[in-house]
Amino acid sequence: MKSTETNGARTASASAPQKSGSSATRSNSKTASNGSGHRENLSKIFEDTLKDIYWAEKHLTKALPKMSKAAYDENLSAAFDSHLQETETHVQRLEQVFEQLGKKAQAKKCPAMEGLVEEGKEAIEEYEEGYARDAALIIAAQKIEHYEIAAYGSLKAHAKMMGEDEIASLLEETEEEEGNADKKLTEISGTVNQQAYTGDSKA
Ligand SMILES: [Fe+2]
Ligand SMILES: [Fe+2]
Repeated sequence: MKSTETNGARTASASAPQKSGSSATRSNSKTASNGSGHRENLSKIFEDTLKDIYWAEKHLTKALPKMSKAAYDENLSAAFDSHLQETETHVQRLEQVFEQLGKKAQAKKCPAMEGLVEEGKEAIEEYEEGYARDAALIIAAQKIEHYEIAAYGSLKAHAKMMGEDEIASLLEETEEEEGNADKKLTEISGTVNQQAYTGDSKA
């Protein structure tokens, strides 16, 4: 099945009309010269992306309690707490994914998540406790969720392409929870931002 797909793709590109000197010609010749290396590269890309998000999720289990403690709004604090529990599940699901692949769960430092968490930390350090700081925490937290949504969406798509349906559904479960966490934050921002802009106390 897999080799048929590869052969099919080769046949299609070979029978495509030739364009002299165009970028299409260059990319066709690259396809031909790389040959079977493609699949090896793709599984390494998939594995590296898994290691990246595994590091990111573990890093978040340390950051979320600090964000919860810093939140002034009770609903925001509770949302961080419940997402911490989900995040612990995300770590376990990724361990299941590694297991399904027959690989040892390994984390690779994710500079993007390190930076996003750092932005939240800066908000905590730079502003006084109150609704305005909560608004900054929500901005930081939503950037984090969007990074995760992008990572899981891509991983899920690749798992499907590899015919790894069980892995795809594990990744999809997490992707959905990240999406719900993002929506919840949008909902809470309605009150928090309102208080930050118009409230008298702790604004
Ligand atoms: Fe997560
Ligand atoms: Fe998340």
